[in-house]
Amino acid sequence: MVLAKSTRMYLIIFIGTVLIYLLLHCVPTYLPPSDNKNTEPPPLYIITPTYRRPEQLAELTRLGQTLKHVKNLLWLVIEDAYDWHPLVTHILDRIGVPYVYLLAPMPEQYRKGYIPRGVSNRNRGLEYLRANATEGVFYFADDDNTYDISLFEEMRYIQKVGMWPVGLVTSTGVSSPIIRNGKLDGYYDGWIGGRKYPIDMAGFAVSVKFLHERPNAKVPFKTSFEETLFLESLEPLERSDIEYLADECTDILVWHTQSVKNGPAKPFNETLHNDTNLKYLEMLLVRKS
Ligand SMILES: *[C@@H]1O[C@H](CO)[C@@H](O)[C@H](O)[C@H]1NC(C)=O
Ligand SMILES: *[C@@H]1O[C@H](CO)[C@@H](O)[C@H](O)[C@H]1NC(C)=O
Ligand SMILES: *[C@@H]1O[C@H](CO)[C@@H](O)[C@H](O)[C@H]1NC(C)=O
Repeated sequence: MVLAKSTRMYLIIFIGTVLIYLLLHCVPTYLPPSDNKNTEPPPLYIITPTYRRPEQLAELTRLGQTLKHVKNLLWLVIEDAYDWHPLVTHILDRIGVPYVYLLAPMPEQYRKGYIPRGVSNRNRGLEYLRANATEGVFYFADDDNTYDISLFEEMRYIQKVGMWPVGLVTSTGVSSPIIRNGKLDGYYDGWIGGRKYPIDMAGFAVSVKFLHERPNAKVPFKTSFEETLFLESLEPLERSDIEYLADECTDILVWHTQSVKNGPAKPFNETLHNDTNLKYLEMLLVRKS
């Protein structure tokens, strides 16, 4: 009787141990394999227009190093040019952010007066999304702004359109939706200019699904009216469709920094320096011809 009791006890301990072992080692393999995928945040598409100028590689480096901190992102770098520039590819490869490098030359008739820079680039980005993206959010991120990475984490969950303040824009020092009692009550910007949506290009993002529902939406070749006319092309756009990010527009997460315009660098003296490192640095600069 005593023996049988202790045998039973050993049996219970043995079975218990086996059960705990199975629980620890085998159960995790029964988790659905798609679990990782479910925890992946919605994709972000960052559309960056660029063009050849002395600051180009510097600006792309700065923005790229910021984007490196953001998960599940595709960087659409779109150059106003007829040919791919090997140095741009070189810089993008080195930064290591997943990217697509596309070309979108501006039609010649717009290259005079107030040049609507970046328009053909942004429309090329929209074309890419229409063909290749189904979910997530896109954002027109110029290469000369300064971005807090928390902005990207906030914007990826936008359902339709999201807006937020942009610092260092016009004489008001900031361009922002005005929020009164939790509701939109106009826009604050040093230049309203009769625009329905007087906001900066860096001050909004749009969901890819919403773009798909508006097949005619595009950025127009009209200098200073690109933002408002693009948003108008997304209509119908109800006020209740718009989300106000950056803590209901009480914080600034992007700044329109703009770097000083540099003139082309003067050429180096070949006789003196042809056999030195300077000939490699020369290739990274935009030179006076
Ligand atoms: C869609 O993506 C493919 C593969 O990256 C690319 O070759 C193609 O040009 C894209 N389509 C558009 C319209 O940009
Ligand atoms: C380059 O340097 C050489 C040697 O000092 C000088 O003779 C020549 O004038 C310089 N060329 C130019 C274009 O400055
Ligand atoms: C310097 O090098 C370039 C290319 O290698 C060559 O075309 C040029 O003639 C050289 N100039 C001199 C002064 O040696």
